[in-house]
Amino acid sequence: MTIIIQGAMDCELDVLREHFAPAKTKTVAGYDFFISSYKGNDIILSKTDVGLINASAATVIGINEFSPALVINQGCAGGHIPEIKNGELVIGEKSVYINNFYTHPKGAGEGSDSLDWYPSKRSYAVPSTPEYVQLADGIAFDGKKRIGTLGSGDMFSQEVDRINYLHGLFGELCEDMESVAALKVCEAFGVDRLALRIISNNEITLQAFDYGVCKTLQKFVIALVDKIICV
Ligand code: 5AD
Repeated sequence: MTIIIQGAMDCELDVLREHFAPAKTKTVAGYDFFISSYKGNDIILSKTDVGLINASAATVIGINEFSPALVINQGCAGGHIPEIKNGELVIGEKSVYINNFYTHPKGAGEGSDSLDWYPSKRSYAVPSTPEYVQLADGIAFDGKKRIGTLGSGDMFSQEVDRINYLHGLFGELCEDMESVAALKVCEAFGVDRLALRIISNNEITLQAFDYGVCKTLQKFVIALVDKIICV
């Protein structure tokens, strides 16, 4: 089986690179793929870089180059509810695009009020493959684990009123910048997919960004991959 595991930043792939010890690297259009043979399977680590456009491009290229049976998009995210803390895991039942807004018309000098923007009908949510959500839920995690909605867009939101506004509209537990793009491309190509996020910051409770949590998620992903290839 071929599995692509994506991460946007080096700190989201370092533990995986050490564990899977890729023998080869392939770079296509600037996107890096680290290729491993693991217990008779092909594990491809894909560095997508940050943001939806990068994640879309890297996912299209990854699917074309490697024909994966499964794409796992994983990484960190900011909490969008007050009770979620750094180091907690969210298994993305779905990811919703949270930046697709219309503004009301305002003239020069009338300012801008993002709490008055309304979601476009073109906003969408994309599910992870339910079977893999269930498999991930069965893996032990040393900490709190939730199954829920990921929010995804090209913003790093730090305004609590806007975070609450988004949560009221979309119900997302957290915000990242890649998952909805990866899931959307996989859905279009008919490829199984799973999005996982670990909370690295919470702007509501003022928990500062902790890159270290990415290591915890990667260990969980390794346990999940071991389970998947044994099923
Ligand atoms: N908002 C948006 N993206 C976040 N990330 C972590 N926290 C947040 C947040 N609060 C993730 C994104 C991106 C990088 C900045 O970290 O997915 O890759």
